[in-house]
Amino acid sequence: MSEEAARSRVLVVGATGRLGGSLVRASLAAGHPTFALIRPRHFALPDSAPLKPLAAAGVTILKGSLDDYPSLLEAVRQVDVVICAVPTKHALEQKPLIRAIKEAGCVKRFIPAEFGVDHTKVQICDMDHGFYEKKAEIRRLIESEDIPHTYIYCNFLMRYLLPSLVQPGLDAPPRDEVTIFGGGDTKGIFVEEGDVAKFTVCTIEDPRTLNMTLYLRPPGNIYSLNELVSLWETKINKCLKKIHITEEQLVKNIQNAPFPLKMDLIFIYSAFVKGDHTYFEIDSRSEGTQLYPDVKYTTVSEYLDTLV
Ligand SMILES: NC(=O)c1ccc[n+]([C@@H]2O[C@H](COP(=O)([O-])OP(=O)(O)OC[C@H]3O[C@@H](n4cnc5c(N)ncnc54)[C@H](OP(=O)(O)O)[C@@H]3O)[C@@H](O)[C@H]2O)c1
Repeated sequence: MSEEAARSRVLVVGATGRLGGSLVRASLAAGHPTFALIRPRHFALPDSAPLKPLAAAGVTILKGSLDDYPSLLEAVRQVDVVICAVPTKHALEQKPLIRAIKEAGCVKRFIPAEFGVDHTKVQICDMDHGFYEKKAEIRRLIESEDIPHTYIYCNFLMRYLLPSLVQPGLDAPPRDEVTIFGGGDTKGIFVEEGDVAKFTVCTIEDPRTLNMTLYLRPPGNIYSLNELVSLWETKINKCLKKIHITEEQLVKNIQNAPFPLKMDLIFIYSAFVKGDHTYFEIDSRSEGTQLYPDVKYTTVSEYLDTLV
């Protein structure tokens, strides 16, 4: 048997998306025969825009969709591992995928579309507008159907909030004044998307992560708002004016904000005021950088260097 034939065959659902694209690249880089379930509309696009690079990289492209059960079953039957990276608003569309995994019986690991905060731990559930309930329902289904799984909780992807230095509405870090939400000392966590994908792929053949949760808390990426601003000030060699928004004011702002600003403020409140990224203890067997010390990850400082 060739080395490739011995590796797990990985199906990525959401491969045309941002995290899904990184998952495909990480899976290929780790030597896994990699498959992508691509929705039919992409095949009709001129030059099949997202398909060509995938095919050129060596991905086996399968036409199908979460709402087309026969296509799902056919795709799932070809692989050992399924990783799903559809957005939270589509999380419940994973139900037929779980049904197909159950029926196919060949999948040794399912990694559902989590990739955020552990919603069994968050303290802001009463104000999340049902955001986490969809993922919670999928978790319950996976467990009741006895599907072998790993949950990945990466906290904030760097692409979300870090480019603005946690200033909703900005598309670059501030250079004159900055808003600090709450006391500014509660720590949040950022992980670069490609690194999330690398850690995710590390888990798929690892018996230590079977039916477990993997948290990503890279030590170089855990920052309070005060620390983050101070790091940025050092990089641009300038002291910014600080505008402080108290917890009470932030809650009022959340109530009055339109979507999607409301969700940005809720996630900021969750991480940097309530401490939902770090308030609970995890052991070294559940943390990505400790389980996989050889994975080199991008630090917040390195990321901010690209924004100076
Ligand atoms: N922690 C964070 O800060 C953070 C931030 C953002 C996202 N996330 C998480 O990252 C994951 C992926 O999000 P993303 O922003 O990378 O998504 P994205 O770029 O919007 O891509 C979504 C992908 O899902 C596919 N998709 C959607 N509905 C589908 C269906 N019914 N059947 C098949 N494919 C379908 C899309 O396919 P088409 O190209 O055909 O539309 C696309 O490939 C989610 O779990 C999300 O919660 C985390």
